[in-house]
Amino acid sequence: MSRPTIAHGRRTGFASLSRGGLDVDSFPMRLFAEGNAKHWNPADIDFTQDARDVAEMTDLERWWTCSLAAQFMAGEESVTQDLQPFVAAMAAEGRFADEVYLTQFVFEEAKHTEAFRRWFDAVGLTDDLHAHVEENPAYLEIFTKHLPESLYALAEDPSPRNQIRASVTYNHIVEGTLALTGYFAWSTVCASRGILPGMQQVIKHIGGDERRHMAWGTFTCRRHVAADDSLWDVVDERMQELLVPAMGVVIGGREGEERPFGIDINEMAEYAMDKVGRRLGAIESARGADVRVIDRDAAPEELEETFHAEDQAVLAAVV
Ligand SMILES: [Fe+2]
Ligand SMILES: [Fe+2]
Repeated sequence: MSRPTIAHGRRTGFASLSRGGLDVDSFPMRLFAEGNAKHWNPADIDFTQDARDVAEMTDLERWWTCSLAAQFMAGEESVTQDLQPFVAAMAAEGRFADEVYLTQFVFEEAKHTEAFRRWFDAVGLTDDLHAHVEENPAYLEIFTKHLPESLYALAEDPSPRNQIRASVTYNHIVEGTLALTGYFAWSTVCASRGILPGMQQVIKHIGGDERRHMAWGTFTCRRHVAADDSLWDVVDERMQELLVPAMGVVIGGREGEERPFGIDINEMAEYAMDKVGRRLGAIESARGADVRVIDRDAAPEELEETFHAEDQAVLAAVV
């Protein structure tokens, strides 16, 4: 039988029953297996010491820490919701292995939201937290406009062009620039004073999950760029559209506000730009490559592991 349709709501057959329907050696299935092996449970993390540490902070430190956590939590909620059109887009393209991986990806984002909410409840920060995102207009621009608009465009038209725009927004700006820089800030806060041991565990687990997420985004852009070289311009164009608001989120906050914990905003911005530039390089290197090779190439995952090793080295130097 010719390859059946597995688009949502229009099934004519089954990917898993088809010849070669679910290649466990393909890149997305390897990410899926790794995620299954590294499962963690937010309910297992003890935030008792975190509550003591938050209580002992100065008002400025507590406000800043709360803003970082609130922006993360709202971001995790947003990406839990907004990835769902990408799951359907993979089915529309007949890529069941990617769909399998993205279901785990959505689950992990939901789990990240849960982990932050458990932290807030445990440290006693239970009032409405919207003020912490509303003070950053660039944050709202990304999470209430650019992210949902580019992801829900896939529901209308899951074309390679729209997939690239969605992936650059989601994987390379929101995860690769904002979240990664935020993890770095958390690590600096926690390491500078040896505080928030529960949050340190959350960040370690989430960081591991996010490396797979970003690797999938790089992989997805690579396979489209390898198949159609003109799509490289779409990567570049979308990145240019979003760099200003993304940097606005990183350096945002109250005007003239002093940053506690020795946080250096210029260092954070440089850190973010370096990661974006190198991940774009990984996509660009797929130009002219054989798409069948891309499907098994581990380069996107290796790049994330390299970034991680570099971060560990920098943080070891801080402590
Ligand atoms: Fe996440
Ligand atoms: Fe993620």
